[in-house]
Amino acid sequence: MPIAEQPVQSPLSADLQAILRCLSCGSKLESDQAAGFLCPACKRAYPNVQGIARFVDAQHYAASFGFQWHRYQKTQLDHDELNESERHFLMKTALRPEDLKGKLVLDVGCGMGRFAEVATRWGARVVGVDLSAAAEVAAKNLASRDFVAFQADVFALPFAPESFDIIYSIGVLHHTPDCEAAVKALDKYLKPGGLLVVWLYSGYNKWYRFSDFWRRYTHKMKPETLHGILKVAVPFFYNLQQGLKHVPLVGRPAAGMVHHVFPVNRQKDPEARMLDTFDWYSPKYQSKHTYEQVFKWYAAMGMEDMRVGEISIAVRGRKPERR
Ligand SMILES: C[S@@+](CC[C@H](N)C(=O)[O-])C[C@H]1O[C@@H](n2cnc3c(N)ncnc32)[C@H](O)[C@@H]1O
Repeated sequence: MPIAEQPVQSPLSADLQAILRCLSCGSKLESDQAAGFLCPACKRAYPNVQGIARFVDAQHYAASFGFQWHRYQKTQLDHDELNESERHFLMKTALRPEDLKGKLVLDVGCGMGRFAEVATRWGARVVGVDLSAAAEVAAKNLASRDFVAFQADVFALPFAPESFDIIYSIGVLHHTPDCEAAVKALDKYLKPGGLLVVWLYSGYNKWYRFSDFWRRYTHKMKPETLHGILKVAVPFFYNLQQGLKHVPLVGRPAAGMVHHVFPVNRQKDPEARMLDTFDWYSPKYQSKHTYEQVFKWYAAMGMEDMRVGEISIAVRGRKPERR
């Protein structure tokens, strides 16, 4: 007889369980105690592993993110002296506390939960999904919040249509094999009148051309190997650039050239610098987009009341009340 896992999350509330659906036949799921969820119609089981219900059989292409968020569990989590995630949430979603209070919100690609931390702090009930094992870290980081994490894929979400008031996805959908399809897949889960907010990498900047070249090789490395290389390379190139800046006349152009050819993140905090550089070089998929593209996708979904955020490409739209 299998040993039931010790839950790290509280049992799912009845109203959230009511929106869970079987990925195979679409039936409502039943709770199988601490073992997970079971479809009463087709008998497909969704096991709880380490307290997280798993709606995927593996991390697939997102394994580097599983490594990343286990390695840097709290680096970007806001606390008394840090509000970077809140600042980014405001600029990338244009959502305010009054938009979120009391709402049921889906965080797609929640990572270790830094934006769900902000949303729950502002009074939202948040469901976080992530393809990678990051879901475990988010559940742990937000254990005391109105938050539940599932390991699930944006292309096969285990929810009933029109379940959520707000769906946001920050820095995620450009890491899927088809960003347009991923954005459009979310419309179905939004209630009429609900908001869909995405933030994607910008296709307007060209500074990353060399990093795209290096990533062709770096994404194929084991996450542990790439991380080991970056532990040496990031301080080396960062300090080289800082040092060059002090050389009269030629120093600054030379530092710019080094950054152009070997781009590493330039934040002051060495840990944040490592995390963001690893995040840049490890993903298999990393597309860039323009406002023209994303507005077209939203128009095809019939979205209204379009807004943009402060950091490209941040797009928000409202699903019409009745179509
Ligand atoms: C760069 S991280 C961003 C995490 C978080 N949104 C943040 O900004 O801190 C991208 C996340 O998207 C997740 N992801 C990638 N493809 C996904 C998919 N098909 N379904 C769900 N999550 C996915 C990855 O596992 C990873 O945790």
